[in-house]
Amino acid sequence: MLIVIIICTLLYLILNIQHNNLERTLKEAGKNHNLFIGTAVNGEVLDKDEDYANLIKNEFSLITPENEMKFSVIHPDVDKFDFSESDKIVKFALENDIKVRGHTLVWNKRIPEWLEKGNYSKEEMEHILKNHIFTVMEHYKGQIYAWDVVNEAFNNDGSLKDSIWLRTIGPEYIKKSFEWAKEADPNALLFYNDYSAEVINDKSNAIYKMIEQFKKEGTPIDGIGFQFHTSLHQKFTQKELIKNMKRFSEIGVKVNITELDVKLSDTVASSKVKYEKQANQYSVVLKSCLKIDNDCTSFGMWGLTDKYTWLKDDSPLIFNEEFEKKPSYDALISILTKK
Ligand code: G3I
Repeated sequence: MLIVIIICTLLYLILNIQHNNLERTLKEAGKNHNLFIGTAVNGEVLDKDEDYANLIKNEFSLITPENEMKFSVIHPDVDKFDFSESDKIVKFALENDIKVRGHTLVWNKRIPEWLEKGNYSKEEMEHILKNHIFTVMEHYKGQIYAWDVVNEAFNNDGSLKDSIWLRTIGPEYIKKSFEWAKEADPNALLFYNDYSAEVINDKSNAIYKMIEQFKKEGTPIDGIGFQFHTSLHQKFTQKELIKNMKRFSEIGVKVNITELDVKLSDTVASSKVKYEKQANQYSVVLKSCLKIDNDCTSFGMWGLTDKYTWLKDDSPLIFNEEFEKKPSYDALISILTKK
């Protein structure tokens, strides 16, 4: 009898340790909250740095090609599409049971020269954009969790940002892009993605008004991506974030944190203090996401390690240059593993 008790106790301890180890990764802990944990991925680095690839496999359940699906990369000439770089990232994701965020179909940046200088008419431009959306989405049909259909279309004052799309097609380019995307892949989740709209301000009000109108008129849209590029200088509270995010979920769109990074401002504070403040910023964003009743479905960062960040020297991410966990990582795990 005593042996049976000892064996049962040992079994329980082993299973408990295994369970906790399983939860010791962001992606496993994210499952407690039905939350995908995402990162931007640099295709060149993925090819050459095994530690980078392994860290992604272990910690993340969603990846976004940082540049490989942008217009100038994937559509380098009027009648030429090049999926060679983006296919590598999608293949890696599918082989490792990781979801992919398509980024991005329509943006004012990364416009190739043939398009910029093409002097196309409104009709020609609509044909080009529709063909771009259809060709890219059909190529990846069934392989993409969510698309950033339109990226960064508003200025901070709530006006529409200048772009070749606005100038040639007019303001309706946004609505048309979502309609074409829905036609191209009816099963893909379609997101609008932007920065500096995480709290209630002129920009987030303009985005809210657009999405509210889309919902009223039946224009297909499934979610809003809050990029959340921020820094230690930027002050925001959970209350402000939740108030803004909730209003979007209440009009029937999912909320995604898509590109979070927290620049260490050049304060004089010690690294220890800066990393603690950074961990607090990451915590506030994650806790706010978790408060949106399952309508915040992904928590994504714009990279994983400070070694390859677009923000050189600002140490904005949750793993340092040696791929070691920073206080921000520990803070996220601690929040996600709390039942
Ligand atoms: O690949 C070329 C290389 O061949 C060339 O030698 C080199 C020097 O000109 O440029 C390389 O391309 C650069 C590309 O990143 C890949 O590294 C582009 O110049 C550079 O502009 C591009 O910057 C990217 C930026 O978007 C503009 O596309 C950043 O890596 C990327 O992190 C950033 O990501 C954006 C999101 O897409 C949207 N939200 C904001 C976010 C940060 O700006």
